[in-house]
Amino acid sequence: MDKFVIEGGKPLKGEIRVSGSKNATLPILAATLLTDEPCEIKNVPKLRDTTTMLKLLKSLGKNVEVSKDKIMITANGTLNHVADYDLVSTMRGSFCVLGPLLAKLGKAKVSMPGGCIIGVRPVDLHMKGILALGTKTTMEGGYVNAVAPKLKGAHIYLGGVFGSSVLATANVMMAAVLAHGQTVIESAACEPEIEDLGNFLSEMGAKIEGHGTPRIVINGVRRLEGVSYRMSPDRIEAGTFIIMAAATRSHMTIRDIHLNQLSALVDKLNQVGVVIEKDKDSIHVKPGRNLKPVSMTTYPHPGFPTDLQAQYAALMSLVPGVTVITDKVFPDRFMHIPELNRMGAQIRREGGVAIIEGVKQLYGAPVMASDLRASAALVIAGLAAKGRTDIHRIYHLERGYEDLDKKLVGLGAKVWRERE
Ligand code: UD1
Repeated sequence: MDKFVIEGGKPLKGEIRVSGSKNATLPILAATLLTDEPCEIKNVPKLRDTTTMLKLLKSLGKNVEVSKDKIMITANGTLNHVADYDLVSTMRGSFCVLGPLLAKLGKAKVSMPGGCIIGVRPVDLHMKGILALGTKTTMEGGYVNAVAPKLKGAHIYLGGVFGSSVLATANVMMAAVLAHGQTVIESAACEPEIEDLGNFLSEMGAKIEGHGTPRIVINGVRRLEGVSYRMSPDRIEAGTFIIMAAATRSHMTIRDIHLNQLSALVDKLNQVGVVIEKDKDSIHVKPGRNLKPVSMTTYPHPGFPTDLQAQYAALMSLVPGVTVITDKVFPDRFMHIPELNRMGAQIRREGGVAIIEGVKQLYGAPVMASDLRASAALVIAGLAAKGRTDIHRIYHLERGYEDLDKKLVGLGAKVWRERE
């Protein structure tokens, strides 16, 4: 296992490119199960999670060919309906093969996704959606066993205790595109990744409207075609870089970024005093003076993304004054707090709230990455801190940030990998 070593404390400078979106790629790869025709997907980030998804597609019977700039997915005989524990338990995104397998084969046996450090993460909304479409389900040995010889369109309210669900919306959309009749999903997730999935399905020939809004209307079709599709940039990676620039007081240019997907972050950072200038498909972040602490609550899109909460906490721990952070999407997502505190941050947790008393300086320390976005927060803190930070268990980072060490070295950062 590798660790990241960072010698921090100096500003970064230069240009960094955002890779393709991980969270949009995972359901789109699953959607290729809906057709027997070839699908070509470009700008797929090379990550542990995308590799896992490709392995899962292969295990389900697809042929996968990876070349430098694209992935080709083609049929390879009949599909298998069983998604194995080994692949699904390591990554929640793989649970979204359930919808397409049901639509294509009328049956699916998918391992329950594994428990996750950021919270309980139930699948009741996924189940509610596919049951409404006429599926019968049983639980057997940790697997969801779902059977639906004929899926039938339905009117489904998909809101849960914590609001909408991204992957449940994706699963229901992919089941509904080949169902008989009309499906209306109310309280659908509005995340850009759902918009991307809807666009991909439309290009395959699906009749779908409203993706990216809380009401998605789908009229089932008999078959879908192969497509060529280019993944849009990863908004969470982009947001991580913007926060990194602010925390390290750096001049940074970030390329391949859709800033309109990050309005809540930009609004917050403007209040904090961070200067963000927009160019065509790039932005420039300038070090602001006298940054102010600004409290923040995460919500489903277009609210402040939970996937940027830990990174924002790392920034606010360096802004003198008090900031209150509340996560309304994953109320237990605060594993980064003790690690940031090891670096001199002053953060305490009271239930679902983190209270940060900003300090002038963080100091390098050995820290442990607990999950993907918490790891990104530690990288930001390490780059801003004085001295050496060793981040252990960086396999979490490799799940979601393509070539992060190389990209950071390109900005003049002193970052390298060492074997544990
Ligand atoms: C996706 C993202 C993840 C992001 C999250 C929220 C992928 C691969 N992952 O995860 O990075 O943090 O959206 O933006 O795209 N919930 C239920 N019942 C369900 C499903 C979810 O109560 O059946 C709850 C969850 O516990 C959570 C909230 O709904 O509190 C939102 O979760 P959800 O949108 O489903 O997250 P994911 O789609 O798993």
